[in-house]
Amino acid sequence: MANLSTSYMGLQLRNPIIAASSGLTNSLENIQKIYDQGAGAIVLKSLFEEQINFAVNKTYNQSEDNYSYPEALDYISHYTRANDLENYLKLIREAKSSVDIPIIASINCVSASEWVTFAKSIQEAGADAIELNIFVLPSDPRRKSDQHEQVYFEILQSVMKQVKIPVAAKISYYFSGLSNMALQLSWSGIKGIVLFNRFYSPDIDIDKFEVTTSNVFSTAGENTLTLRWVAMLSDKIQCDIAASTGIHDGKAVIKQLLAGAKAVQVASVLYQKGFEQIGLMSKEIETWMDKHQFATTTDFIGRMSYKEVKSPAAYERVQFMKHFSGIE
Ligand SMILES: Cc1cc2nc3c(=O)[nH]c(=O)nc-3n(C[C@H](O)[C@H](O)[C@H](O)COP(=O)(O)O)c2cc1C
Repeated sequence: MANLSTSYMGLQLRNPIIAASSGLTNSLENIQKIYDQGAGAIVLKSLFEEQINFAVNKTYNQSEDNYSYPEALDYISHYTRANDLENYLKLIREAKSSVDIPIIASINCVSASEWVTFAKSIQEAGADAIELNIFVLPSDPRRKSDQHEQVYFEILQSVMKQVKIPVAAKISYYFSGLSNMALQLSWSGIKGIVLFNRFYSPDIDIDKFEVTTSNVFSTAGENTLTLRWVAMLSDKIQCDIAASTGIHDGKAVIKQLLAGAKAVQVASVLYQKGFEQIGLMSKEIETWMDKHQFATTTDFIGRMSYKEVKSPAAYERVQFMKHFSGIE
């Protein structure tokens, strides 16, 4: 029978399916359910760096200007008191004593400020790793790309000074030099990189003239953007990749592993179809491995990476041409 285990950031996972950070991973009850459905690991719902700074430094000025995420102010004023840092550490401790799969803590951050010391508490509570969801929207036309990029390295270095557990960077594709950035991040000492985070995006209601929320959940088609970059980067970078965005079934997991990911992270499909999807995805991977006589995941992880495929140019092709798309 196929062995689905994989190694991600030095952690042993019983299979490559990780429940991504989301509201679904914020309670012990759900963590237990996700575990029961067979997930390989769980990334807890993220704390905001502002939330931690608020608690670390009670004199932290609460003006709106101090909040880098517009949603953070609301979140903190309505939520923090009920769900403070101690609750987060309690969740880590309880999760660790209830389930025996890796528990990865997560922080949304935009600067290397006071909050970084909290990483030590996360480690002491027993988290197996820390994932840093770093995103600075490059919206300020006066700031050059290297100024934005520097922040990533400052954050990662500061956190890695605090802890011994593996650290991962969860990033977006908003970089003009994405390959070079990913390469440099992988040299910084991180053990994993999550490609890619998916963000809340605004939409416009054309009758009410209001800014609204676009689709909160991904579609299965979004998987291919990640696939291209996993395939192009997996041979080059020096840390493990977890693929994320648009992974909705076992076939999509297999594709990401073939491209070179060590694991995948899923959220939308769990919201839309329930935690049983984890078990169904595992089964699909197992059936496929048996069909192709792969005994272990290492037999096929990276087999379709940029370096391994016959025509790597296929991953670089970007313009539609009739010859490739079949459509005029
Ligand atoms: C409702 C919701 C809440 C999320 N919250 C977080 C979060 O707190 N931290 C984070 O790093 N990612 C968060 N994400 C992003 C997911 O972890 C994941 O990277 C993204 O949704 C892409 O995966 P998917 O296509 O399987 O949904 C959230 C996603 C959703 C849908």
